[in-house]
Amino acid sequence: METPITKKKNIFSAIQPTGTFTLGNYLGALKYWVRFQENEDYNAIFCIADEHALTVRQVPSELRNRTLEAYAMIMACGIDPEKSLFFIQNHVPAHAQAAWILNCYTQFGELSRMTQFKDKSAKHADNINAGLFTYPALMAADILLYQTDIVPVGDDQKQHVEIARNIAQRFNSVYGDVFNIPEPLIAKVGARIMSLQDPAKKMSKSDENINSYILLTDTNDQIIKKFKRAVTDSEASVKYRNGKTGVSNLMSILSVTTGKTFEQIETEFEGKGYGDFKTAVAEAVIAEIEPVRNEYERLIKDKAYLEQCYRKGAEKASKIANRTLGKMYKKVGFLPL
Ligand code: TRP
Repeated sequence: METPITKKKNIFSAIQPTGTFTLGNYLGALKYWVRFQENEDYNAIFCIADEHALTVRQVPSELRNRTLEAYAMIMACGIDPEKSLFFIQNHVPAHAQAAWILNCYTQFGELSRMTQFKDKSAKHADNINAGLFTYPALMAADILLYQTDIVPVGDDQKQHVEIARNIAQRFNSVYGDVFNIPEPLIAKVGARIMSLQDPAKKMSKSDENINSYILLTDTNDQIIKKFKRAVTDSEASVKYRNGKTGVSNLMSILSVTTGKTFEQIETEFEGKGYGDFKTAVAEAVIAEIEPVRNEYERLIKDKAYLEQCYRKGAEKASKIANRTLGKMYKKVGFLPL
């Protein structure tokens, strides 16, 4: 019998360099990225989407710093540029080039239906720019250039992966098989880590209340204080259920950081108050992110090493991306130079 040849699957994901990452980014995305990197069945490709960040107004020096900080922080979380393809979007011009072409295969109507566009144009009413509108075409370029099979994203980005699929199918139906059709992958646990102050909202660093989020750069004392202040309820029972959103959110955090199930956590804290429970959550989070913070402090000082890594990443990524871009150019009928 022939041995089946199993092809590795390409997984692609990206994150915007909008300031220091939160515990939500870590548990919902970055931790999974590292798992894919370590899994032999996947080629892991990760990118810092600085071009997407430009769809809202940025202070140039801050964008520059944050991009480097994001690169260092993601490495500190465990992304190893020798094992993963890890680069910065603007360093690979094929993304912007492919996005232009894909824009011409994307309909005004479908872009108008994107909930993120509607939300962001309401929030930034003074700057509803064309980039904000065509954001999904650039994201489709990111994904499709690498012949991606799987796109791990938060549930807020699922619609963008779906439009990328539609664009790819449309292009393929005109020109033949140019793109692989990607699938979104939404993590179940950890995908939505909620605010510690208002568990109806997603944990976000743009929240005005700094107690609502944990940053990966927070000190141990800050982490303990923020968990002590986390909103719970008046029942004093550690149970995962509807109506106990604060406690359930803390249980999710404890579950993803320790690997314990909700049942195990409920049993462990049976008859104990929220004080002990919150301390346990804070300790589990510290155990997980203290090493990340230390590694980050070391890496961010080593600018030469970081530059060497993102330079190599851009070179490797360009090779792959340019192959797909070349096919696109040929198919649409550009006269080659
Ligand atoms: N839009 C994504 C976000 O804001 C980031 C992103 C850009 C992305 N390009 C991507 C995610 C491609 C997945 C695949 O979270």
